[in-house]
Amino acid sequence: MLKDKKILLGITGSVAAYKSIDLIKLFKNKGAVVEVIMTASAARFISPMSISVASGSRIHTDMFEDHLAHINLPLASDLFVVAPATANIISKHASGIADDLLSSSLLAYDRKALFAPAMNWRMYQNPVWQKNLDILASLGHCFVGPERGSLACGEEGIGRMARVEHIVEAAEACMSDQDLSGQRLLVTAGPTREYIDPVRYITNRSSGKMGFALARAARRRGASVTLIKGPCSIEPPYGVELVDVDTAAQMHKAVMDRLPALTMLIMSAAVADFSPSTRYDKKIEKSELTRLDLVRTDDIVADAGSSAERPFIVGFSAETGSSVERAVKKLHDKNMDMIVFNDVSRSDIGFDCDLNEVVIIDRNGSLPLPLMSKDETAEAILDRAVELKKLSGKE
Ligand code: PMT
Repeated sequence: MLKDKKILLGITGSVAAYKSIDLIKLFKNKGAVVEVIMTASAARFISPMSISVASGSRIHTDMFEDHLAHINLPLASDLFVVAPATANIISKHASGIADDLLSSSLLAYDRKALFAPAMNWRMYQNPVWQKNLDILASLGHCFVGPERGSLACGEEGIGRMARVEHIVEAAEACMSDQDLSGQRLLVTAGPTREYIDPVRYITNRSSGKMGFALARAARRRGASVTLIKGPCSIEPPYGVELVDVDTAAQMHKAVMDRLPALTMLIMSAAVADFSPSTRYDKKIEKSELTRLDLVRTDDIVADAGSSAERPFIVGFSAETGSSVERAVKKLHDKNMDMIVFNDVSRSDIGFDCDLNEVVIIDRNGSLPLPLMSKDETAEAILDRAVELKKLSGKE
């Protein structure tokens, strides 16, 4: 998404300015070209030389070095990002002040910009500043953070600049078509654990990567997203409501409680199909456990499919082979609108890797997707879901 895109990065005077180097590197890793404007105060926190080395180009600091820079730089960029954005730059822009290169360039930029605020919590809570924030938000500008945590002054509170990974995610969202705006999506991801005792459990394989990619893509496209996740060790996406669950029963309750409010349910979790019939409160002796009796867990997607308050439903089918027959049967048996067939017998796709090659099946036919990243697969699954949802009149 950011490949060959021109990012104009404004850096203002905050301790968080040192994180700009990592931010620039992340943007560049994604294929973006980064031009930087630094304010005079930013240059007191980090040297323009260091920023120049990271960006690979000359840093713009002086309004009068090139008398048209404040017009040409914003004009040539695909997205204007201000990170860190001090209370000062946000208030200046909200008041239309243009007294240096960065504030003048912002004023000459006629699209929505992304701000990553950073300041002390007292400044953040000041109603004057909050009013200025509201002005920019009402004009459609995007914001990421700030986060709560320990601040440079030693105090705890809200005001830390968002993590650079989240700023990049927000930049991608800012540049995306918001075709899922107004949609309320629930994505499940990861495995569930079915406990024998407090120490032992049975589970299914899943890293959560496919589900997280779906949640990230949906949020980037403007949906309000809830991600219900079983135990996963990967970093969750930014800007989604996170609900942690452990067992299939907990996931079942979490999904069913939210079902009436949803417009789409995507079940990519590898929910355990069986649970031990007895769950011991204390760790049992090895010698005492001679057999394990199992009971079936409730089928979440089937229960959602038969609900009167049924949203558009996308399920997954993890199979060890290339035949899609079982996936087609699940689509009908569980009353889904669409199912994603995933051959998990291959080591290069499916479980715990960054690539996938799936077949999307619906009631009219199937659509094989090429081998691609899980992020790209997620986009293609959402594209098809949006298309089918429109056709089915469930818009
Ligand atoms: O997490 P990763 O490492 O990235 O791997 C991704 C994945 C391979 C786990 C994912 O792409 C995938 O295929 N997920 C579905 C796995 C699965 O449980 O498939 P299934 O064929 O057993 O189940 C069919 C459908 O029923 C699924 O949508 C499943 O979420 C749902 N189900 C299953 C059991 C149950 N008790 N309740 C359910 O809702």
